[in-house]
Amino acid sequence: MGGKYLLCETRDAVARVTINRPEKLNAINREVFFELRDSFAAIEADDAVRAAILTGSGEKAFAAGADIAELARLSPTEARELSALGQSVMEGIARLRKPVIAAVNGYALGGGLELALCCHFRIASRNARLGLPEVTLGLIPGYAGTQRLPRLVGRGRAMEMVLTGAALRAEEALQAGLVNRVVELEELIPTCEGIAGTIASRGPVAVGFAIDAINRGLDGTLEEGSWLEQALFGLLWTTEDMREGCAAFLEKRAARFKGR
Ligand code: COA
Repeated sequence: MGGKYLLCETRDAVARVTINRPEKLNAINREVFFELRDSFAAIEADDAVRAAILTGSGEKAFAAGADIAELARLSPTEARELSALGQSVMEGIARLRKPVIAAVNGYALGGGLELALCCHFRIASRNARLGLPEVTLGLIPGYAGTQRLPRLVGRGRAMEMVLTGAALRAEEALQAGLVNRVVELEELIPTCEGIAGTIASRGPVAVGFAIDAINRGLDGTLEEGSWLEQALFGLLWTTEDMREGCAAFLEKRAARFKGR
């Protein structure tokens, strides 16, 4: 998988998807969305892949936003359609039952930050800058940034970021809970690979259920989320992996999960 704007490779059960448009700071146009949709559909379908890393090529940008040249040419109807396309691709990533880690290697602005926000969590390099500068263009975020950012960092911080358009430095993003760790640029991919590798070694069905429980639970009430957790918890007793995981612990050996 891959295409004109994406590079995709899989190593040791971890897929790496790289937006490869460095001359435009990996700005996201419509085609990038189609390629992202296809690549993550392939990742979802491939039993050999247990986790994914999403990043940008070059040392400057994860993605510097929606492609402003493309935005400038749209009619209102086309703008709404592009927003719907971007939102559905990002929702697809968020709903994936395999973890997707955003490796934020520089600017993550506008649509670039929204793309990082739909990933399950984010690791940033020290040179990263994260912001939603749409108001500087007379716009608002269109790929659910006004929804995902406040859910992650709280209403007040999100308001300030969206209304000023000012970007956070990596350390500020860490403090805000927008990223989980900040590392040197050369350590970014190895760090993400390490975390992805750890997750890939866990029970895949359980990992998928945990993503569902957290994501869907946070969309509803505590009671609804707890009910879902109960149902998924019980359902895991139907899996071979649960038997294997518990047996391996009791036999003091490493578990061999099969994803079923
Ligand atoms: N859409 C389209 N092209 C973009 C882009 C975007 N979001 N962000 C950067 N580019 C292009 C630039 O136009 C430039 O292309 P050119 O060389 O053909 O002129 C190239 O990428 C390099 O960007 P440049 O602005 O020269 O780099 P810089 O280091 O001086 O500045 C940024 C970096 C990120 C501060 C600046 O590019 C920027 O502000 N980008 C837009 C960010 C934004 O508003 N995103 C939200 C969009 S909704």
